[in-house]
Amino acid sequence: MRLPRITPSDVVVTSGASEALELALTALLEPGERVLLPCPGYPLYSALMAKLSAQGVPYSLDEENGWSLDLEEIDSLCTPGTRAILLCNPNNPTGAVLGREALEGLLEIARRRGLVVLSDEIYDKLLYDKAHIPTASLATDVPIITFGGLSKAYLACGWRVGWLVFCNSHLMPELRSAVLRLADARLCGPAPQQYAIAPALQGPQEHIPEMMKRMRSRRDLMVRRINAIPGLSVVEPAAAFYAMPRIQLPGVTDDEQFVLSLLRETGVLFVHGSGFGQKAGTAHFRVVFLPQEDVLTTAFDRLEAFVRERYPL
Ligand SMILES: Cc1ncc(COP(=O)(O)O)c(C=O)c1O
Repeated sequence: MRLPRITPSDVVVTSGASEALELALTALLEPGERVLLPCPGYPLYSALMAKLSAQGVPYSLDEENGWSLDLEEIDSLCTPGTRAILLCNPNNPTGAVLGREALEGLLEIARRRGLVVLSDEIYDKLLYDKAHIPTASLATDVPIITFGGLSKAYLACGWRVGWLVFCNSHLMPELRSAVLRLADARLCGPAPQQYAIAPALQGPQEHIPEMMKRMRSRRDLMVRRINAIPGLSVVEPAAAFYAMPRIQLPGVTDDEQFVLSLLRETGVLFVHGSGFGQKAGTAHFRVVFLPQEDVLTTAFDRLEAFVRERYPL
């Protein structure tokens, strides 16, 4: 692994990874400029693009290929007004982890087209089987900004501690100084909580495998239960606590209506796939499998009864 040279001034501590994403996109973009965004993707990305009057251009994650990248499509979406490709790896909402080949292919496109890579890696430690490859470990000649924080692996989302890291910052001096100016203008990230960062990252990490052991049995339960319901199918997530099951039931084209009917009739709430963006003509819902197994079992019992009764296949 070739780690890029990073100095303390390449790191900006922020109020969550959310603020780090906002600082980077604000510094990078003029109105009308384009950033390629994963589809499905975390809704904050497109919300920030709207706020900046910039254009989020969705690139499809390939469900048939474990929600990996379609590099040809990504390349074809790059135009002169495109400034960056945003990656979410591991991904919310699919739980997918990208392999080396996909990452190297994406870096090759960024290199050739002169784009910045924005790599949201906030779930990098919440892994089941597959290793996570930091994007910045694969290139010393591409400008990469990585996003992370304490919200996920350190269970401290309310503390609002996040950061961005300029990797290969010599390739983006103007962008780096624009981000630092914006960061200075809001004075600082939340100060007392910053004392938690070093002990969190350098201290004992045993809680993570313990947590992932519990999460693995919840994930396995979720995959088993969803795939046993006719008309629903799910790609097994390799990280985090999300999954994006597909709905292929007669007459279901509007997944928002599907989740609302399910909520009204059973009291179980999922987020509709269209809330994250998805390939035209497909329908999904996003599952968060954080609850304990008895709660998950009740939710999947109700989901199964709802689907079998309403959509007999
Ligand atoms: C992919 C992704 N990025 C960023 C965030 C925001 O993290 P933070 O709490 O550090 O602002 C989340 C939170 O759910 C997320 O899912």
